[in-house]
Amino acid sequence: MSITHNQIHHQRKLMPCVVYTLIPLALLHYYTSISPVSYIQTVHKRLQSTATSDSTSPVQGQVAKVKNQPLCDYSDGRWVQTKVEPLYNGTSCETIKWAQNCMVNGRPDTGYLYWQWQPKDNQCPAPVFDASVFLGIIKNKHIAFIGDSLARNQLESLICLLSTTSKPELVYQGGDDLKFRRWVFHEYNATVSVFWSPFLVKGIQLDESKGINHNTLYLDTPNEKWATELDMIDIVVFSNGHWFVQKAIYYGEGNQMLGCNFAQEINCTDYNIFDAFRKVLRTSLKEVTKRFYKSDKTVVVATFTLAHFEGEWKFGTCLKTEPNKEGDAEMPHLENEMRKLAIEEVARAVKDVKEMNGWLRIEALDVTKLTFLRPDGHPGPYMFPNPFANGIKEGVPNDCVHWCMPGPIDT
Ligand SMILES: *[C@@H]1O[C@H](CO)[C@@H](O)[C@H](O)[C@H]1NC(C)=O
Ligand SMILES: *[C@@H]1O[C@H](CO)[C@@H](O)[C@H](O)[C@H]1NC(C)=O
Ligand SMILES: *[C@@H]1O[C@H](CO)[C@@H](O)[C@H](O)[C@H]1NC(C)=O
Repeated sequence: MSITHNQIHHQRKLMPCVVYTLIPLALLHYYTSISPVSYIQTVHKRLQSTATSDSTSPVQGQVAKVKNQPLCDYSDGRWVQTKVEPLYNGTSCETIKWAQNCMVNGRPDTGYLYWQWQPKDNQCPAPVFDASVFLGIIKNKHIAFIGDSLARNQLESLICLLSTTSKPELVYQGGDDLKFRRWVFHEYNATVSVFWSPFLVKGIQLDESKGINHNTLYLDTPNEKWATELDMIDIVVFSNGHWFVQKAIYYGEGNQMLGCNFAQEINCTDYNIFDAFRKVLRTSLKEVTKRFYKSDKTVVVATFTLAHFEGEWKFGTCLKTEPNKEGDAEMPHLENEMRKLAIEEVARAVKDVKEMNGWLRIEALDVTKLTFLRPDGHPGPYMFPNPFANGIKEGVPNDCVHWCMPGPIDT
């Protein structure tokens, strides 16, 4: 057994006794990758295996890995039925955006709540979420979700899950529509925050109400809203992509116009959204790597999540009440490409850090497939309270992009 360079660095800080507990772990084949997801697994299993003999104090994110063993791959798998109850509901958590509170908005079916992700790799089952273990991992740390409304959806899910164990204090909120917020779990000195930055880079959002019909993106300039706060953040989660399907004009180095993606309407060079998204990820990852390649920070890039409109965007519907099985549908090209290029940019950044002899951790949180299989997990018409009250039957707007809370997003 050996431990990678990356982990040796992290273990420097640990007590020797903790290192000993890693050995039986490794012997039991609990090898893991270094993603936050597998942290949970490692720590979870460690707590289980020591539950009867050891102290109960949560441990921090130490990780063991057996050389030449494959890493856990949670990205591929299927949804299987479970009887496990969600950890929270529509009224027990205060941090659910109303448009995603399907229970309170009257969604009648509940079957979508009882599915568990089962990775293909049966060496690596996905553990049931344990809030106190997760809080132990982010103890004395700050985890920030940076991105669009899906990042917010994911952040709120995490806050609801963690709140079942420890009550957080909302210590900051700014921007319209709660776009910037920060909570502290005082018992753990753990900070969780969200930053609105749908492009990750500098830009101007389209806004019909102001007569702005396209986005403007400066592909080489990180958005200062998060870039200026990086010093304070230990775990950065980038989560965006959906805004890239809208009309946009792109600028590159020196504010030179690169082109746009609606050239048929205005006179400009066609510039495709995949190149734009790739550049945005590269700029953002570069910003972190160049400043923090020799740091204990972790950077996570969440991959593209699936929307499930049948028919038109917004007035289309997503009426399914069960997950898709493999083969029920085919992964659409756009989503597939967006995922692939995120994975590639993560790999590239990992290589860059290695070449600089750094140890900054960079991981993809590959949720594209997992979300692809869950057409049943969106609010649909229940983005509004009681949409079918007063005999209304048709023409109700649907949200088939975001996710009900509780729901598959808690995975
Ligand atoms: C929601 O959870 C709370 C606290 O666990 C419980 O008291 C309440 O009955 C639940 N509500 C529903 C609708 O299940
Ligand atoms: C509390 O957490 C912050 C990170 O959010 C960290 O900088 C600080 O050192 C922690 N305090 C203690 C006493 O460990
Ligand atoms: C589009 O812009 C180019 C370069 O500025 C110019 O040469 C061309 O005439 C323009 N075409 C139209 C249809 O306006």
